[in-house]
Amino acid sequence: MKNLTILAIETSCDETSCSIVVDGIYEVCTSTATSADMHEKTGGVVPEIAARKQLESIAPVLQDCMQAYCTKKDIPFASAREFLMSNIDAIAVTVGPGLIGSLLVGVEASKTLALLADRPLIAVNHLVGHIYANFLDNPEILKLEESGDLFPAVVLVVSGGHTDLVLMQGHNDLKYLGGTLDDAAGEAFDKVARLLGLAKYLGGVQVSTQAALCVDNTLKGKLPRPMLGQPNFDFSFSGLKTAVRKLIEDKAAPVDVICCEFEAAVCDVLVKKTMKAVQQFNAKSVLLGGGVSANSQLRARIGLAAKEHAIPVFMPPIRLCGDSAAYIASAAYFKNSSLSIVGNFDNFVVDPSLGILD
Ligand code: KG4
Ligand code: ZN
Repeated sequence: MKNLTILAIETSCDETSCSIVVDGIYEVCTSTATSADMHEKTGGVVPEIAARKQLESIAPVLQDCMQAYCTKKDIPFASAREFLMSNIDAIAVTVGPGLIGSLLVGVEASKTLALLADRPLIAVNHLVGHIYANFLDNPEILKLEESGDLFPAVVLVVSGGHTDLVLMQGHNDLKYLGGTLDDAAGEAFDKVARLLGLAKYLGGVQVSTQAALCVDNTLKGKLPRPMLGQPNFDFSFSGLKTAVRKLIEDKAAPVDVICCEFEAAVCDVLVKKTMKAVQQFNAKSVLLGGGVSANSQLRARIGLAAKEHAIPVFMPPIRLCGDSAAYIASAAYFKNSSLSIVGNFDNFVVDPSLGILD
């Protein structure tokens, strides 16, 4: 082991997160602040407010993370510069996709730290970051990689803004298979939560909680399974939301039943298309990532499907399904563990609409 220590910053949306991770897998400490409660009040994320909260939070979060590291290692904290020089080998940061104002706060902070301590700066794609939530503190996945039994892996990244299916042939070797043509899976959960009055912002958990209360899905099969029969790996979730609206208007069933059928429809499509990709590309494993991978129904069903195909499936622990700098550090390590890019910010571009392969 090289003992390569990376400090990472993630500010793509409403979370300000800083982590210190060793050798891409050992998470020493993470500090996170969130402005989610403010967006709950306004019924959706207000980019300007998110960016202002990022500005307010970034310095305290950075300081808190560095101090947490010192406390854990039982070493004194004198100053940020001294800390970085003595303990950190590289800085990593999310450069997109996300909200431009929020992203810029993290990127400028990371450049300042890299300049201050004369350390390399590594740009990380947020969506690729979600994949690496599976590598943190997970020796099992590394063992499989070593024995040649991990790649190619079919990876499903399901977040609030994205739904992508990719074939991971190795680190830095992703092939795009398909993605959503309209709403992301998380976005569909959030819109359904709003339609049902369960939450104004980020309602995936509430929809899932209601679904779990349903004992008899009297609507079974009533909602469409969009694009399931098509010979591609694309998704579409916006029609589902419209169909749910119709069920609500028709008072077709109680809230728990509607949630249960909606969740089943989303999971049907996600799981079946993922497993179709496994078969088509002879994948050796399945990896999940993104906020929606916290969904218990999705986890159970993909677990079962992978078992039927006799291949391992990896899902991040719940706390790493949402946004965290911990896996940004991990992704940075696996992207550039030789740390060949030193102190050149010329090509360091922030891109709010970055795709998973960019
Ligand atoms: O990855 P993430 O934290 O942020 C983005 O990068 O977008 O994903 C947030 C999304 C939200 O749409 C949220 O409602 C959804 O993940 N989510 C869930 C669950 N937990 C979070 N959706 C369904 N079931 C859950 N348990
Ligand atoms: Zn995310």
